[in-house]
Amino acid sequence: MAERPYIVGNWKMNGTRAMLSEARAIDRAAQRYMKVEVAVAPPYTLIHAVHKEAEQIGVGAQDCHPGEEGAHTGDINASMIADAGAKFVILGHSERRQDHGETDELINAKIESALDAGLRVILCCGETLETRDAGEAEAFVLAQLKAALPAFQDPAERLTIAYEPIWAIGTGRTATPDDIAAMHGAIRGLLDETYGAEASAQVRILYGGSVKPDNAREILATPEVGGALVGGASLSAENFLGIVVGASETEEV
Ligand code: PGA
Repeated sequence: MAERPYIVGNWKMNGTRAMLSEARAIDRAAQRYMKVEVAVAPPYTLIHAVHKEAEQIGVGAQDCHPGEEGAHTGDINASMIADAGAKFVILGHSERRQDHGETDELINAKIESALDAGLRVILCCGETLETRDAGEAEAFVLAQLKAALPAFQDPAERLTIAYEPIWAIGTGRTATPDDIAAMHGAIRGLLDETYGAEASAQVRILYGGSVKPDNAREILATPEVGGALVGGASLSAENFLGIVVGASETEEV
């Protein structure tokens, strides 16, 4: 695993101000596991409030519009989320691709705008079960990344990749360590090719899809896994912290 594992909670469309106590509990406990980088991405409506609560954890958004401010009713751009206290943004999540028809090109534009606004980016990729069963998972994921990655190596230190097989998200199924290692190895190869080995080494590759306290250690000990993007289990401080503890114990593997 990477030197400093990165555990990120993606709250998706969950959370009202009542969830701030969970954020506070995560933040206070994270102070005991300084070797793990811990972050949460609440819905837009809670970014500022979580930011004000957080002393230790990073706060981010789950999406942003790629454009400048202007006439886009209901949209929020990268500088607005940065102003609210976000330090990073998750882009290209499969639920955005499915629910909103997001293309790799649009995701690339969002990444560029987020980097311009000074944010860090977690770029998600992942295949459907059909694609995996057809033996095309690796080619599919690498094509997604090739089309979406920012062009220059400069932002490498602000870039994180999250491999999330769609069939493992919210289903209780996880990919096997062998499958994860093979995909993460292929992604690392693409990053090396795109940015050079030195810049690529700064990019952590997270795994996402039904990561829970009881499977976190095995997943996080898998080669090239630099942390986890956690959905369901991040909604309770107890479960999420179980994963953080797992990361703190497997970091040397
Ligand atoms: P899950 O979601 O942990 O609930 O499977 C992961 C994600 O979609 O980021």
